[in-house]
Amino acid sequence: MKQDRLFAEQARREIGRTGIRVSPLGFGTLKFGRNTGVKYPTPFDLPDDDTINELLDACLDMGINLLDTAAAYGTSESRLGEILCKRGDGDAWVLSTKAGEDYDTGESVFDFSPEAIIASAERSLRRLRVDSVACLLLHSDGVAERSFGETGVFDALDDLKTRGLVRAVGASIKTPEGAAIAIPRSDVLMIEYSFASPGMSESIDAAGAAGVGVFLKKVLGSGRVGDGYDMSAADALRFVFEKPAVTSVLIGTLCLEHLVENAERAIAALGNDGGG
Ligand SMILES: NC(=O)c1ccc[n+]([C@@H]2O[C@H](COP(=O)([O-])OP(=O)(O)OC[C@H]3O[C@@H](n4cnc5c(N)ncnc54)[C@H](OP(=O)(O)O)[C@@H]3O)[C@@H](O)[C@H]2O)c1
Repeated sequence: MKQDRLFAEQARREIGRTGIRVSPLGFGTLKFGRNTGVKYPTPFDLPDDDTINELLDACLDMGINLLDTAAAYGTSESRLGEILCKRGDGDAWVLSTKAGEDYDTGESVFDFSPEAIIASAERSLRRLRVDSVACLLLHSDGVAERSFGETGVFDALDDLKTRGLVRAVGASIKTPEGAAIAIPRSDVLMIEYSFASPGMSESIDAAGAAGVGVFLKKVLGSGRVGDGYDMSAADALRFVFEKPAVTSVLIGTLCLEHLVENAERAIAALGNDGGG
């Protein structure tokens, strides 16, 4: 299915002060590679390559250029690496991945030591079949982030930048305390924020004021919009795009119709050209 381009080039937003420009709606690829130990309301099968290609085609057709993955998303990184390599359109995408959580044994293991973060980043590049990625975020468990200021982990991220392996660094953060520690050392943060989970509102504003980019996750309550949550998906998107600090909203889906709906709703929330 060929989609009209919805997000105009000029509507792309800069990730903090990095010069990297992304569509205000990004695509989360957790469901490409992992269907256990996840918090979605209904079980699902991992998609086949044709489904992934169809979703990626639709993203590009609509002007969506940001792909979010993580070392902990099962086979997501390696599948993206293989599929983007075959497609030959790797340059069209801004890739963002994460380090610090592994899920290789079927349960989450966290290690935020500088050595582990560097090894994870290097493995992500091999899995993604690229020489560098746009963004690397610490995949916080919500506890470790309180000591990120003392462990040297941000120095490890800076080393990866100096080596040219990543362009922007930061953290996926769960607490205001973690955000306050991460903001001075980050180009971009990932934060859960929705009408049902608005607790990180001030941290988003603080990141924006500091010139740090903000990626939002779980804006549809991980798929619970309309299922016990008292707000429509359209209102859910309007709610999050009211925040000027937001760079991009990451939504994951295996359903083409949902992807198109989300893009249309994001455009409606932002204005006709996908700007804001
Ligand atoms: N940093 C972290 O710790 C972290 C944690 C979780 C997620 N993330 C990232 O953030 C992304 C989004 O998070 P999320 O998947 O937890 O939450 P979400 O975006 O709030 O919800 C995604 C879920 O909503 C469903 N959905 C999407 N569009 C829909 C629509 N128009 N109508 C009805 N249902 C719809 C999807 O199911 P269908 O497949 O059926 O459409 C999917 O299961 C992930 O893909 C991942 O990249 C990061």
